[in-house]
Amino acid sequence: MLSVRTLSNKNTAFAKIECSCHSENLLIITSLHPSIVRMATIVLGITGSIASYKAADLCSQLVKLGHTLHVVMTKSATEFITPLTLQVLSRNPVLISLEDEKQSWQPGHIHLADHADLLVVAPASANVLGNMAQGLAPDSLTSVYLATKAPVLVAPAMNGKMWEHPATQRNVSILKQDGVQFIGPESDGMLACGYKGAGRLWEVSGIVAEVVKLLNED
Ligand SMILES: Cc1cc2nc3c(=O)[nH]c(=O)nc-3n(C[C@H](O)[C@H](O)[C@H](O)COP(=O)(O)O)c2cc1C
Repeated sequence: MLSVRTLSNKNTAFAKIECSCHSENLLIITSLHPSIVRMATIVLGITGSIASYKAADLCSQLVKLGHTLHVVMTKSATEFITPLTLQVLSRNPVLISLEDEKQSWQPGHIHLADHADLLVVAPASANVLGNMAQGLAPDSLTSVYLATKAPVLVAPAMNGKMWEHPATQRNVSILKQDGVQFIGPESDGMLACGYKGAGRLWEVSGIVAEVVKLLNED
């Protein structure tokens, strides 16, 4: 009988291969090639968008891959999806407000910024894109963004007219110049606001694939 199981700790994934035939038992534990799985600490920023509920699926899929997830939500995002859902799915407390950072002498947003291997903002609102582009840090998420040296992946979601507005496009172009990577939005589709056009959040499976690709590029 042959059984293969994958195990992981913070940085490495292992394959545990058990083989028993007749009276012989063989146990091999081997590390998997890093290009297959690289475990990381990911900070997932969620903003106030109708697409925020999809961040729960994104969070769940990244945790299932073995990554350590820390969720940072804007106050507006909590109107769309509950922090409790993200706390359970990420298996970590959710950071929402700078005023809540009373557990430690070190500010929570700085700790997350220092420990992140990747910051993913999905969905990213027009407002947060503007704050990030202008270097404004009125909340925990934008403070993590300014304080981190980790790569940043942004998945915008908004009404098509908001996305196409020169101000939004200007902010996107500034962020790209600053090294921020973008995925989406979809260039066409039915939007929750009733309009058809650009602005839908990129498919969650596509965002997961991009995260894995970015982590393996390091
Ligand atoms: C029902 C509803 C849906 C919204 N969806 C979006 C959206 O998809 N994208 C966006 O940029 N703003 C959207 N907004 C507006 C944002 O919630 C608003 O700009 C908010 O201030 C964003 O805050 P944040 O960037 O701090 O999360 C929506 C507002 C409402 C009431």
